[in-house]
Amino acid sequence: MKILATYNIKGGVGKTAAAINLAWLAAQEGARTLVWDLDPQGATTFYFRIKAKIKGGGKQLVGGQKDLTEAIKGTDYPNLDLLPADFSYRHMDIVLDSAKKPTKRLKKLLAPLENDYDYVFLDCPPSISLVSEAVFKAAEVLLVPIIPTTLSLRTLEQLFDFERKEQMEGIKILPFFSMVDRRKGLHRQIVETLPERHPQILRTQIPYASEVEQMGIHRQPLGAYSSNSRASRAFSDLWAEIKGHLPAP
Ligand SMILES: Nc1ncnc2c1ncn2[C@@H]1O[C@H](COP(=O)(O)OP(=O)(O)OP(=O)(O)O)[C@@H](O)[C@H]1O
Ligand SMILES: [Mg+2]
Repeated sequence: MKILATYNIKGGVGKTAAAINLAWLAAQEGARTLVWDLDPQGATTFYFRIKAKIKGGGKQLVGGQKDLTEAIKGTDYPNLDLLPADFSYRHMDIVLDSAKKPTKRLKKLLAPLENDYDYVFLDCPPSISLVSEAVFKAAEVLLVPIIPTTLSLRTLEQLFDFERKEQMEGIKILPFFSMVDRRKGLHRQIVETLPERHPQILRTQIPYASEVEQMGIHRQPLGAYSSNSRASRAFSDLWAEIKGHLPAP
């Protein structure tokens, strides 16, 4: 089981779009895939037409008093399951803080699923918090969407600083450009120059495209309603590139 998290300190950069579309691609290939919507906003859960609620409460689930498997829902797609969001996740920091070894909590919760799934995608809320630290401990790969603007670059640097200081050992950071608008000079310039400084940035770029925005109207992964669009092909390329970076089992 490989655990990948879509993460960025910044909001609205394409984390959820990536988690959904990459998980859908993995499931399409026959891999048993789970998406865990860790964001109390519940966008991922909404896109999968599932109610953002954990029976018995998200607090119990994160606290370990409730079995994770009982909360898992099937989606409309073969091989693709969802662990829905719960509004209580807005207090997840507090729940984690009161647990023993808070940063190891998510890893521990996911451990029993080891033989049930090939891939788990954690869709994270935008922040740097105890929840993020627990994600860094649980995930093998951090997929970091970056919009090519100056502010996004700062947050990427902040993440690398954090990596240096906090010894995020055992986790691979794979940033990729998201919502790239080639009509914008700054986007073009950043996309061309930044990989020189940060060679770990993936080569595939997700373009800014209205089809991606329409995921909210269709409430489906992009590939389910627009399989031939440029953006959809970009997600396929991104998934292929990511698989090439995954540590061997
Ligand atoms: N490649 C894209 N092209 C155009 N719009 C996009 C693209 N990717 C995402 N969007 C839109 O931008 C908004 C933010 O995307 P998304 O929800 O994936 O970001 P996020 O990082 O998960 O946000 P949050 O931090 O709120 O969780 C959404 O309305 C989404 O439809
Ligand atoms: Mg999101």
